[in-house]
Amino acid sequence: MSTVKPAPSELISIADLYQSVRARTLEIVAPLEIEDYVIQTAEFMSPPRWHIGHTSWFFETVLQKFQPGYQTYREDFLFYFNSYYEGFGARIERPKRGTRSRPTVAETKKYRAHIDEQMTRFIETVSSRDDAGEILSIVRLGLEHEMQHQELLVYDIKHLLCDQFDAPIKAAPKVVESVGGMVEIEGGLFELGYSAARDGCESRPVGTGMPALRFAWDNEKPAHKVWLEDFSIDRAPVSVGDYLEFINDGGYQNFRWWHSAGWEKVNTEHWQAPLYWEQHQGEWMIRDFAGLHRVVDKAGEPVSHVSFLEASAYAKWAGKRLPTEAEWEKAATWSRSVNSKQDFPWGVSPPDESHANLFENGLWSVAPIGSFPAGQTTTGCHQMIGDVWEWTTSDYVPYPGFQSEFDEYNDKWFVGQKVLRGGSFATPRIHIRSTYRNFFYPHERWMIGGFRCAK
Ligand SMILES: [Fe+2]
Repeated sequence: MSTVKPAPSELISIADLYQSVRARTLEIVAPLEIEDYVIQTAEFMSPPRWHIGHTSWFFETVLQKFQPGYQTYREDFLFYFNSYYEGFGARIERPKRGTRSRPTVAETKKYRAHIDEQMTRFIETVSSRDDAGEILSIVRLGLEHEMQHQELLVYDIKHLLCDQFDAPIKAAPKVVESVGGMVEIEGGLFELGYSAARDGCESRPVGTGMPALRFAWDNEKPAHKVWLEDFSIDRAPVSVGDYLEFINDGGYQNFRWWHSAGWEKVNTEHWQAPLYWEQHQGEWMIRDFAGLHRVVDKAGEPVSHVSFLEASAYAKWAGKRLPTEAEWEKAATWSRSVNSKQDFPWGVSPPDESHANLFENGLWSVAPIGSFPAGQTTTGCHQMIGDVWEWTTSDYVPYPGFQSEFDEYNDKWFVGQKVLRGGSFATPRIHIRSTYRNFFYPHERWMIGGFRCAK
């Protein structure tokens, strides 16, 4: 349990964090050609140009609110780069983001540079203000928002270009351990969610210094007690090889495994396999950033790009079920050795290259199961952080006692979506927590979603 105040070495100034996060967005899009920035390949994705402008628009709303005399850069940009915020006025409909060639990519990058210049100067002046705490919180939130868009950029660039994108891919780690079977987790009262007290951050420093890892979304709070029955959970995410067995057993042809909504998708969208799987001469292949691969060569990796509907069908076929988010969180954070909840599966230290496959690892892909033994829980569950966001059966609804901390951010989505946990290979290290609640609609599969089963 981490109750100590962060050491100075753990502190990262908000100015430094601003520079590094903003720079990473541009690093992600750097290999794109100019034509790639404006294309929208599906209603659910956004053109890269839109992401780099929208994340700047977010900081412009901060300048408009807090910087006296700030002049709006261009009124028409407010219309194109707003996403869904009713409170910020009219905006282009999401499916139409790719129907315009203006603002141009050059204009968008110029806008971004302008916002960075303004924000850098603004942040320098903040520490002397009475509302410094409020401003630093909103800047930090803007940076967390930008990290969410960095991950979305990876999904969208994959949908746009896949193996045509020249991603700077590093070599995959080696499998160190064979991981299979399930572990039993004891039930009882469990404290679900993010606790500032447990995290030692009730008194967040005000000024330019801000602890690097002490942030949580409002939807992770308040921590509250839930009752869990004893349960078992898979030690590893469901693999490509496991999932291929479901396909080969006629899983997509048999209504009995599917929710009604899932069976309807199978029939209307003609689903036969996860997204990015292709059949070549009767053999299943997977296309990713690195190219086209035989599924049998990927058998030991976590399956990804499956919807909640597919994950549920697999689980039923396998005689199991998906975990609830409370079960997932207990499995990920409960330490048998110290008999309490800890920040991460492996303990209290922030994620590094040995623990989990997150964005900074540079794989641009899931890693083989068993290649992160240092990241396992005390009960032996592997890769709960990183690789794939894991579907749970839990509906994305507010925790009891929820208080909204930012209008129209998390609370307007509290209907019809499912919770996913743990982060993916596209999630930045500083962005992930064991209590993080991501959410998508049950049919969505362009994001990096996988799962593990419970019983
Ligand atoms: Fe956004």
